[in-house]
Amino acid sequence: MMNIIDFQKKKQSGSKISMVTCYDYTSARMLVETSVDCILVGDSAAMIMHGHKNTLSATVEMMQYHVAAVSRGVNDKKFIIGDMPFASYRKSFTDNITAAQLLMQAGAHAIKLEGAAGNQDFIKHVTQSGIPVMGHIGLTPQLMYMLGGLKVQGKTQSSAERLKEDALMLQEAGCFAIVIEGVPASLGRELTRLLTVPTIGVGAGPDTDGQVLVLQDLLGLTADFKPKFVKAFIDGQAQYKEGVEAYIKAVNLGEFPTDEHCY
Ligand code: KIV
Repeated sequence: MMNIIDFQKKKQSGSKISMVTCYDYTSARMLVETSVDCILVGDSAAMIMHGHKNTLSATVEMMQYHVAAVSRGVNDKKFIIGDMPFASYRKSFTDNITAAQLLMQAGAHAIKLEGAAGNQDFIKHVTQSGIPVMGHIGLTPQLMYMLGGLKVQGKTQSSAERLKEDALMLQEAGCFAIVIEGVPASLGRELTRLLTVPTIGVGAGPDTDGQVLVLQDLLGLTADFKPKFVKAFIDGQAQYKEGVEAYIKAVNLGEFPTDEHCY
């Protein structure tokens, strides 16, 4: 299993970090059989698993539930990052720490949170308490209403400079890695060069230290959602439906079950 020192080593040696999201036990069991470096139990669970229209509906309880399911599937064979949901780290210090504690006790090995300004004290405190923190800047979906929508960030000189300041702020606060989402590829590269901690990109070009995608997107299970940064590596929707149709056909033709499936 990776640890936070391995993240650093990967950056230094120039070998890429692969991260995928996961929200359930069965998928976690399959991911354990792959060479993926780490698993993010993202707040995208609210959309992918629960059908909400954005990530603002994720709660600490929801994230705890998914982290626990993934943790049972992973069985300590992969490094798990649990996403702190909307506003859960912007309450009282005690509530923020309790939320982080609950995700760690559910089985996360680190937490992730969005944004930089106003999060530094919390990040310093939890890292000193033994909780590794992954930062997340750029197109941060929890801030969608402040950003005026889910738009590519850092396109102007001033917003790119702000993102560089945010990245340095998170590194200084103690983040062991930083997700860079939805920025021009040139800025993804600049941020990666600027930081000593690894960057993990999603829609941030090829030059970040690693990449992350939502599992269902890369498996082609979310064909109705196809932003530019997503690549479906298989046509999961077609294979899924084909499997179910094959079952229905066999049932209708009386070809299932056969003797081998009978007691
Ligand atoms: O929740 C999520 O899936 C994420 C990744 C896209 C980085 O935060």
